[in-house]
Amino acid sequence: MNKEISPALRDFLASLEQLFFIDQKELEEVIAGFHGEMRSGLAGKKSSLKMIPSFVKRPAGTEKGDFLAVDLGGTNIRVLAVRLDGNRHATLIAAHRFAIPTKLTGGTGARLFDFIAGCIGQFFAQHQIDRQHYHDLAFTFSFPVEQIAVASGRLISWTKGFSVTGVEGRDVAALLREALARNQMGFLNIVALTNDTVGTLAAQSYADPAGDIGVILGTGTNACYPEKGKNIKKLPGLDPAGEIIINIEWGNFNKLKTNIYDRLLDRASNNRQQQQLEKMVSGMYLGELARLIIVRMIKQRLLFTDKKVPEVFQKKYALTAEKMAQIAQGNPSRVGLGPQNASPADVLAIREICRIVTLRAGRLAGGLIAAVIRWMDNDLASSHTVAVDGSLFEKYPGFRDSVTATLQEILGARSSKIRLKTIKDGSGIGAAIVGAVASLNITRRQP
Ligand code: GLC
Repeated sequence: MNKEISPALRDFLASLEQLFFIDQKELEEVIAGFHGEMRSGLAGKKSSLKMIPSFVKRPAGTEKGDFLAVDLGGTNIRVLAVRLDGNRHATLIAAHRFAIPTKLTGGTGARLFDFIAGCIGQFFAQHQIDRQHYHDLAFTFSFPVEQIAVASGRLISWTKGFSVTGVEGRDVAALLREALARNQMGFLNIVALTNDTVGTLAAQSYADPAGDIGVILGTGTNACYPEKGKNIKKLPGLDPAGEIIINIEWGNFNKLKTNIYDRLLDRASNNRQQQQLEKMVSGMYLGELARLIIVRMIKQRLLFTDKKVPEVFQKKYALTAEKMAQIAQGNPSRVGLGPQNASPADVLAIREICRIVTLRAGRLAGGLIAAVIRWMDNDLASSHTVAVDGSLFEKYPGFRDSVTATLQEILGARSSKIRLKTIKDGSGIGAAIVGAVASLNITRRQP
């Protein structure tokens, strides 16, 4: 590291690196803990992993039809018109991204769902989409939903900073249906309600039967995989050899060693003691973790010693993962860290903090992908394609490399059997595919 860095700063960074580093042995413990939680979750016992049966299996590749898909993620709503040709090929006819206004993430359910309906209305108008042609709507809702059937399910609890009232415990497909009716779009029939991980996996395995894990590494993080009926002890009566895709909701995994910054972040969050893994790995939280470290260092007079603290570190969540990526790419002035307010040593140290925080995220993500693969195929007898969506994985410099390196570290030479495949718009396209997959025809009793 650069000689301009003072010994005190160097020592702080060295101990930070120690604090955040998860070595191979610890990763193995994380994997063992994760398997234990998977087992309990599938048996319906107390677990930080919800292991939610999605009520669909992977597509055959022969599904066909024209669908509208609406994808509510963490920061955007995407509306897509998708054509499935019945021969493993999906075409995006049109797509539009709408940013979710922050005030809607803390407002009422009716306002949020009216906004979604409004986006669909705008999509029809702006892309000259023939309203007569589209009847089937697939809804990707990227939050933990207790699925009731293939096209209905109740929101268990909000994640990713959402706190919209009147939605938890309700059927979100029904809420969308009501909003569509209020907005003169009652002609749309909701045929699927899907988590983004399930959509991503469906999109990949529609094109390539080797696809068997769907992972999101974006604003939030989560994964899904196909499980045999006989292992889903909490859903008796399934075909023992048949499969159902399980939405793990791994963001809530909590058998992890946390540090002082993790605890500070959790304490100030609106979902305390929930989403422990998500708070260590996903794009929504990485910047805040780095900011909390920086704030502490400023207090200890290790950074910006005789300068005004830049705005990006002053407000909660002001340091986003995009801004961290700019710093990592060597463009600190783009985020307000120019020569006028940051010394070269400040910039170097902040870059190092971003690296340390993101490396832990990448290693945890890699470790847990390895955990899911081992769960499905302990000896790695087959090849596996992991479909990954999310801007952290796609855009953050070095993130993909640390996931890949960790897979190699854990699985050794056999990791060559694993392919990580970035998939764009998979969650929306995949929801359309789920809409076309014949429902497994199982319903859960209403409580
Ligand atoms: C959060 C949600 C989960 C989603 C993930 C990625 O963890 O709870 O359902 O899949 O974010 O968007």
